[in-house]
Amino acid sequence: MVHIADDGRTWLLSGPTSSYALHLTGADELLHLHWGPPITLADAGALAAAPLSGHRPFESPLDGGEEYPVEGGPRFVRPALSVRTDERRGTEWGFEGYDTEGDELRLRFADDGLAISLHYRMRGDVVERWVGVANDGHGRVELLRADAATWTLPDREGWRLSQLHGRWAAESRLATAPLTYGEKTIGSRRGHTGHQHLPWVALDTDATEERGEVYGCALGWSGSWRIAVAQLPDARVQITGGAGYDDSGLLLLAPGESYTSPVFAGLWSDGGFGGASRAWHAYQRAHVIPGAERDRPVLFNSWEATHFDISEEQQAALARRAAEIGVELFVVDDGWFGARTGDRAGLGDWTPNPDRFPHGLKPLADRVRGLGMRFGIWVEPEMVNPDSDLYRAHPDWVQHQPGRKRTEFRNQLVLNLARPDVREYLWERLDALLSSTPVDYVKWDFNRSFTDAGWPGEPYPQRLWTDHVHALYALLDRLRAAYPEVAFESCSGGGGRIDLGIMSRTDQVWTSDNTDPLDRLAIQHGLTQIHPARVMAAWVTDSPNTQLNGRVSSLRFRFVSAMAGVLGVGGDLTRWSAEELAEARRWVELYKEIRPVVQRGELYRLRPPAGGSSAVQYALDGEVVVLAWLQAQSYGEPVPAVRLRGLDPTASYECRETGEVLSGSVLLHHGLRTGLKGDLDATVLRLRRI
Ligand code: GLA
Repeated sequence: MVHIADDGRTWLLSGPTSSYALHLTGADELLHLHWGPPITLADAGALAAAPLSGHRPFESPLDGGEEYPVEGGPRFVRPALSVRTDERRGTEWGFEGYDTEGDELRLRFADDGLAISLHYRMRGDVVERWVGVANDGHGRVELLRADAATWTLPDREGWRLSQLHGRWAAESRLATAPLTYGEKTIGSRRGHTGHQHLPWVALDTDATEERGEVYGCALGWSGSWRIAVAQLPDARVQITGGAGYDDSGLLLLAPGESYTSPVFAGLWSDGGFGGASRAWHAYQRAHVIPGAERDRPVLFNSWEATHFDISEEQQAALARRAAEIGVELFVVDDGWFGARTGDRAGLGDWTPNPDRFPHGLKPLADRVRGLGMRFGIWVEPEMVNPDSDLYRAHPDWVQHQPGRKRTEFRNQLVLNLARPDVREYLWERLDALLSSTPVDYVKWDFNRSFTDAGWPGEPYPQRLWTDHVHALYALLDRLRAAYPEVAFESCSGGGGRIDLGIMSRTDQVWTSDNTDPLDRLAIQHGLTQIHPARVMAAWVTDSPNTQLNGRVSSLRFRFVSAMAGVLGVGGDLTRWSAEELAEARRWVELYKEIRPVVQRGELYRLRPPAGGSSAVQYALDGEVVVLAWLQAQSYGEPVPAVRLRGLDPTASYECRETGEVLSGSVLLHHGLRTGLKGDLDATVLRLRRI
């Protein structure tokens, strides 16, 4: 809901449990008023009446108080908007007016040939913000920086910053540290979201998992990006973020051209980190993830089992085993196309390898379907191996700088998707693939970062960085429209492209190439700070772990770890014993039973994985599922009971595993015993309200 004061200069956006307010002064300064618990328009008016502070030499009255600080004038903070024409730099805007459309509020400003619009939309308690910048003058405008939003926090002492950092095979690990004066920036200058940081930050002063105020911000952009968190000299905190890492030229806007930033979403919660993440999950399920009401199937993926060495017979053998244990979707990973027998060749040639699949993929797909499963394939459309028919025919289709070396990672180069011919080629190839083979699922990979992001002949600053992302989005949108039953997974060497932008056009994400079930607990703990279990793919692979560390773990531990998200199996099932297969079948069956609660329920992180034992709870309509893990028991001490959350204290709950009936009050206050012991133990406990 948008409420507007009579003077048309104070706006109040209200969600179910929060409000956001802003005010335009008589001098057209757009000030932030409020972000937090619900307030009224009268409250916003009272806040707007307070005079600006800081009228001293060397201090700006605007710094730290503006909704969207532009460059120029009495400001010294990092500008959200920075533009340059042939003659001058910076912005001096005048207010043009506002309008609302449904839940969206749009404020319009103009500065001599430049039209700037600020957009706000409340979805649940999440405020979505973005900007539009249009050149409606006669000269060229260089957009050095156009952040999607600047968020202003209330005056408090002792802010802490939480972030999700990592690298390949170690993504989304939560780190929290006190904020100090100055600025902290996170981002990616790699052309994709990156393994190094998820585009999310959270700020609090004294929140716990279930109590206290948490401010969170998350960007919906799958290219390079930057979020800067600044504690200003008067201790006020602002967060600004948007597409692009540097301030050195986002785009050149010719007369008539415009730029729309991605969405930078913000959320205030007073339910601690758990409350904040449940609100993020609800927002994504309702407004971001396509078809989130449909549960994701249990999949098998061939990568760790067979790597590049694949054939129809061998995949069919895996498929038979997969079907036996209850898998619902069989995915053939890398190695089915072109001359792709290793990572040196074939990327770009999206036709089945004639030696391996002489009659194409359809016979295998039919066999998989005949076993009662859906069929999926792996692709990496944005890339090419120099050793490929595509590259031999079109060496100029890759990103490169004239006369410079073309840097290879994993023997591959990045296609320049800003080129219309490249985009059309990819559409044709993928369309041909999906129309000729009964494919239900596409794992869409992206296995290297941009390095030589040039486009010979195109003037600086080049559109390639942003156009690549828009082209990817357009391709996915077009494929989804043409093949509405096909699901897509976003993968980038694991979790290198996870953000709200890609999330709005894919059904799930490959969380990490790290399938070690213990490491995964920390990675999953981090990812669920922002994204729901419904998108978090996790496979049970072989023990000892072949991909990473050789760790030995039980099938039980591996399954319970992977059951915390979208369960998959990725081990070499042809080498699993009859007992292992039988056990796997029981776990898959159990997962299917708890799946609605895991994928659609409210998630409570009961105990973080940093200690020896950890636990997560999911709750949906009186059904409760607790997954608990123990790394190593010490001194024979029993694992402390886990206190459950979100239960009705007056109701009784029956534990299906133990038969115990306990009151909500006891479970909330004293907790549930997990019975874990020894090393790498895990359990699933189901409770039902009676
Ligand atoms: C990436 C993915 C893996 C697998 C390989 C195939 O690393 O993250 O899951 O698909 O590519 O080459």
